[in-house]
Amino acid sequence: MLAEFSVRSINAIRPDIAAIVDEHIDEMLARGGPLDLVQAFSLPVPSRVICEILGVPYSDHTFFQETSQNLVQAESPEQAIESVGLLIAYFDELISACLKQPGAGMIGRIATEHVATDRLAKHELIMNALMLLIAGHETTASMITLGVITLLAHPEQLAELRGDEALVGPAVEELLRYLSIADIAGTRVAVADVEVGGITVKRGDSLVVSHSLANRDPSAFTDPDTFDIARGSRHHLAFGYGVHQCLGQNLARAELQIALPALFSRIPDLRLAVDRSDLVLRDGGTVQGVNELLITWGAEA
Ligand code: HEM
Repeated sequence: MLAEFSVRSINAIRPDIAAIVDEHIDEMLARGGPLDLVQAFSLPVPSRVICEILGVPYSDHTFFQETSQNLVQAESPEQAIESVGLLIAYFDELISACLKQPGAGMIGRIATEHVATDRLAKHELIMNALMLLIAGHETTASMITLGVITLLAHPEQLAELRGDEALVGPAVEELLRYLSIADIAGTRVAVADVEVGGITVKRGDSLVVSHSLANRDPSAFTDPDTFDIARGSRHHLAFGYGVHQCLGQNLARAELQIALPALFSRIPDLRLAVDRSDLVLRDGGTVQGVNELLITWGAEA
């Protein structure tokens, strides 16, 4: 695992994450509702955090937020290819600059320690940085937004969560299980014939593993379609399984554990400004979510 994503490194940046969260809530409170939670909070918070970890200038965020969104939610192969090309060119330039003069964050560190010393090819750092930037944006952003919707839909559990800090960790795990936003991110190729549920998967066959089906399996979770923050769902598969399970899971957990309680404690009467039945779910891409969530608070306008 990259040192920047270990439990120890992520714990060390928790105060920084909390400061970024607070700054965005301050801005939301100063603007007043109704506003779009996705643009005001869910997207910029993980975006700022991953930029700091990677050493990507946040001033370029409009470019890479839009381009990674065009990639993750691409409507055609051409759009996906064009977006990847733009991001590769962006990182190529950034890493070239780090090779001339030591740069910040993980990219700066790896460029100096590994690329400049020919231990790693430049294109490998480009592709890894690209994957981390994209993965660090849309996923946690979707979890924050859908997490807010889910908690507001379960007011008794939200009230319990507000009153008991010890419930934050279990509540985040249950949200991860229940929402399974990266449903089809787990892709595998069988290296040998294997029988799964009475069906033989042949060596060389490719498989898409649905995390939401696994996370709603009644033999693993009692009453799986019920949202229950007290169920203790730590063994869910929302981050995948095995050597390729999510590299950013410690970061994602920390962001959710900090962002969700902060939103509900600093804006105690936070509520949806639209009817839940009118919410439009994304109908494509690899990360489930909504592209906009109007919220409000305080007295009715
Ligand atoms: C709540 C947020 C997130 C969810 C639900 C999520 C989910 C997933 C899933 C299901 C996989 C596939 C695992 C497998 O194939 O077994 C994955 C892989 C990955 N994720 Fe995440 N992820 C999240 C956040 C992040 C963040 C914040 C980062 C990085 C900053 C990240 C980086 C990665 C990377 C690099 C991989 C590929 C790992 C590999 O192939 O070895 N993810 N994630």
